[in-house]
Amino acid sequence: MSKMWAGRTSGVTDKLADDFNSSISFDCRMYRQDIQGSQAHAAMLAKCGIISEEDAKALRQGLQKILEDLDSGALEFDWECEDIHMFVEQVLTERLGDVGKKLHTARSRNDQVALDLRMYLRDELKEIKTFNHELLQAICEQAEACKEFIMPGYTHLQRAQPILFSHQLLAYAMMLMRDMERLEDAAKRMNISPIGSCALAGTTYNTDRAYEAELLGFDSVCLNSIDGVSDRDFCLEIMSALSIEMMHLSRLSEELILWSSWEFRFIRLDDAYTTGSSIMPQKKNSDMAELVRGKTGRVYGNLMALLTSLKGLPLAYNKDMQEDKEGVFDTIDNAKMCIRIMAPMIATMKVFPDNMLKAAKEGFINATDLADYLTKKGEPFRSAYKISGSLVAKCIAEGKVLEDLTLEEYKEASPIFEEDVYEEISLKTCVEKRISEGGTGPASVAAQISYIKEYLK
Ligand code: ARG
Repeated sequence: MSKMWAGRTSGVTDKLADDFNSSISFDCRMYRQDIQGSQAHAAMLAKCGIISEEDAKALRQGLQKILEDLDSGALEFDWECEDIHMFVEQVLTERLGDVGKKLHTARSRNDQVALDLRMYLRDELKEIKTFNHELLQAICEQAEACKEFIMPGYTHLQRAQPILFSHQLLAYAMMLMRDMERLEDAAKRMNISPIGSCALAGTTYNTDRAYEAELLGFDSVCLNSIDGVSDRDFCLEIMSALSIEMMHLSRLSEELILWSSWEFRFIRLDDAYTTGSSIMPQKKNSDMAELVRGKTGRVYGNLMALLTSLKGLPLAYNKDMQEDKEGVFDTIDNAKMCIRIMAPMIATMKVFPDNMLKAAKEGFINATDLADYLTKKGEPFRSAYKISGSLVAKCIAEGKVLEDLTLEEYKEASPIFEEDVYEEISLKTCVEKRISEGGTGPASVAAQISYIKEYLK
């Protein structure tokens, strides 16, 4: 069959070329946005006197029927069509005759696809926002439930200083709030309408772009038609923001995996979010967390792929740009699933404070506090650090912890030590005295929780 754009050429193309060229297999998911965009376009054409009110009404109703039929399954996609835009116009023309052929006045698929994609992503970002909200809530609630639990904080994956488990969880809440803001920001910049840019240069018809944009819920119209059809920054911004968010989720996943291992045993993930092994009867694997970690790779990959496809492209539209969709869809689908599954996984995990405390007691993580004790009594910090270090070395050699040393042993290292050293290096004191703003002390943790609760409102 000859193509809708037959004219200059016969419109008869090779079957292999058709398959290669076609995007309907993946852009069909934008049918709703495509139809809504066309309905607004028909309304604008009538408002500007470019087509009659009667034709516009027929077009809008015809489009509505196509939408309903696609929703219900009464109408199936024609995979022979080049893309979703051609498909909708083809069905409309089949059903309405010549009126259907008027729809594509004063527009092009170039501005149409840019419009559809912005509208599609706008809808997706709303859903992602809900899931992010749920995840933030889950983290915040778990942090609140665990606000007494002491664990070792790590640097270089070596036990470093005592912290509250809540404080560690809340670090992820901070990342997530930034992720949410980045997406919000991208959504705001994306909400500018490209429709009416037409092929690249605008049109000779006296159109009303602002009216059409308003009907579709856009804040304004893009000011340069060439940019309107060439710009895919909005895809890149979303893909970057989601890459960063996935990086955060993968770090959280990694910690959940580590913490639920027998080596740590700080938490246990609920059975609903783990799997067993087909051969090893004892296994409980953190597959969901591992998949979140793994999927981060493809989300990064999609971003790199689109950046690379766009690199060096001359203005304005080039078919290369059809390559934007599969990657951005894949990013949306996968990131959405990851964000979504993370919330119940965090909410249902069981936390073992005794194991955390035991680990906290074994790593000399109060050595900094021991040095600070001496410093506060007049010893310069660098020499206090040395004394504290030598006491740790002595403990390691004798198989002890700092709390086991007698006051005589302390005094041998420095006459400054008094009986109150024991109180000062107890893990509870170490945590409670971390009073600096944003530190691990209980007041700071409580402040973070109330900040997040306010944010969630
Ligand atoms: N399927 C195309 C895309 O996804 C739509 C725009 C086609 N425009 C054109 N002039 N070939 O980018």
